[in-house]
Amino acid sequence: MNCAERLVEMFGSQAEVARAFQLDRAVVHHWVKTGYVPVRWAGEVERVTQGRISAVDIIHEASAKNPVRVKSRPDDAPFGIPPEDPAMTQYAPAKRITSFHPPQRTLMGPGPTEIHPRVLTTMSQPAIGYLDPVFVEMMEELKSLLRYVYQTKNPLTFPLSGPGSVGMEFCFVNMVAPGDKVVVCQNGVFGGRMLENVVRCGGTPIVVEDKWGDPVDPQKVEDALKKNKGASVLAFVHAETSTGAQSDAKELTRIAHKHGALVIVDAVTSLAGTPVRVDDWEIDAIYSASQKCLSCTPGLSPVSFSERVVEHVRHRKDKIHSWFMDMNLLLGYWNAGARTYHHTAPTNSLFALHEALLLIREEGLENCWARHQRHHVALKAGLEAMGLKFLVKEEYQLPQMNAVLCPEGVDEAQVRSRLLSEFGLEIGAGLGPLKGKIWRFGLMGYSCRPDNVMLCLSALGSVLDDMGYPVHVGDAESAAHGAYAQMHAKDAQRKKRAA
Ligand SMILES: Cc1ncc(COP(=O)(O)O)c(C=O)c1O
Repeated sequence: MNCAERLVEMFGSQAEVARAFQLDRAVVHHWVKTGYVPVRWAGEVERVTQGRISAVDIIHEASAKNPVRVKSRPDDAPFGIPPEDPAMTQYAPAKRITSFHPPQRTLMGPGPTEIHPRVLTTMSQPAIGYLDPVFVEMMEELKSLLRYVYQTKNPLTFPLSGPGSVGMEFCFVNMVAPGDKVVVCQNGVFGGRMLENVVRCGGTPIVVEDKWGDPVDPQKVEDALKKNKGASVLAFVHAETSTGAQSDAKELTRIAHKHGALVIVDAVTSLAGTPVRVDDWEIDAIYSASQKCLSCTPGLSPVSFSERVVEHVRHRKDKIHSWFMDMNLLLGYWNAGARTYHHTAPTNSLFALHEALLLIREEGLENCWARHQRHHVALKAGLEAMGLKFLVKEEYQLPQMNAVLCPEGVDEAQVRSRLLSEFGLEIGAGLGPLKGKIWRFGLMGYSCRPDNVMLCLSALGSVLDDMGYPVHVGDAESAAHGAYAQMHAKDAQRKKRAA
């Protein structure tokens, strides 16, 4: 019996397999018809079947049935050109380059995250043009899915071509004119990048500083806005990835509006991992990135501007100081209606983002936030049972970014390197003043799963133990199991009460 048939037997029908893998039935039917499950599903099959069908079985079977036959060079030189001109080989490395096959990794750093196989499958569909009517239809769905994750009706909500840094720059370049006063909050690496953007736009920055690991202090922001009348923008990071601290975006926005300033919010790490409610909180401008809790391929930056910001940018008297990021020009492509060429959109990455957002829509945004919280509680229980301490106070801890202090005398870099080489597990290091002092454990998007929590605890425990740090791996694992059991019991009680 092949693996596709074993799946059908295990789940009872093709429809049930499709349900378990959140797939269309036609895809499962195709697996059964061709007699194998494609390689990219190997990890997911092992996870969903809890190891009853191993990833290796899927890989072996798929490689036997569908071997990769593509040759990197033709056998015969076309049109009589000699196969290798000696003068040209000087530019080739001595070793012949072969196709690249990245290893399987468990990604629990600050992003990128692992990517759901449905997203990978979608990404590898044939390319189509960026003005193809089918693509244009997909763009409109993509915008509405983004409005869902941002919880906004803002018409200007779309993904920029470029990583989170492009989203950041887009907001500043469009909203800050030379001479504008901007209050910038700095409590980690990314507040520092915002400051840099203000300076490069010719704005006058007013810096509100907080300790790395603390949230932005609303009182300091209020004082700064009172002292600097006429400040046009308040900029802050909602979820500071470099420390794992969460700031109160709703309160900071309220204070800014009281003083007549617009807000720019960095939601690169918060979006989809922890509540972000753009309309309820009246956020003016916000940006994120595709590779964090959206669990997509890196290189896209979803942004959203309120109508007030759109008007503000439209009425600027000076020319926006970046051609690529000029909101008015970009809207020529992203606005519904007559679309015109602006730049060549990364079509396959956008297919992928559509699928990643659809997965969140299917799960439900509140369930998605709750999943991040649940696995954070279990991971935290395990890490604390090992004697590790969190950098951030409990009430400000981000579920998706867990920063813990590296114990005295432990070689922080060696631990990370051993986790990667021995367990294929990637975690993050500290940045700036926290370099060498903390580890950052990401639980974002598709990487935020119980199997990753348990792997992380046993791998970390085993490496620390081997390096002479006194930990009991079993204690960490049982603390995490205990936390899961408690949460299940609470949930069962809640359901009983509701029934
Ligand atoms: C809070 C925050 N802002 C901005 C960025 C920049 O995003 P990117 O690396 O995608 O350019 C990051 C990246 O980690 C981030 O964590």
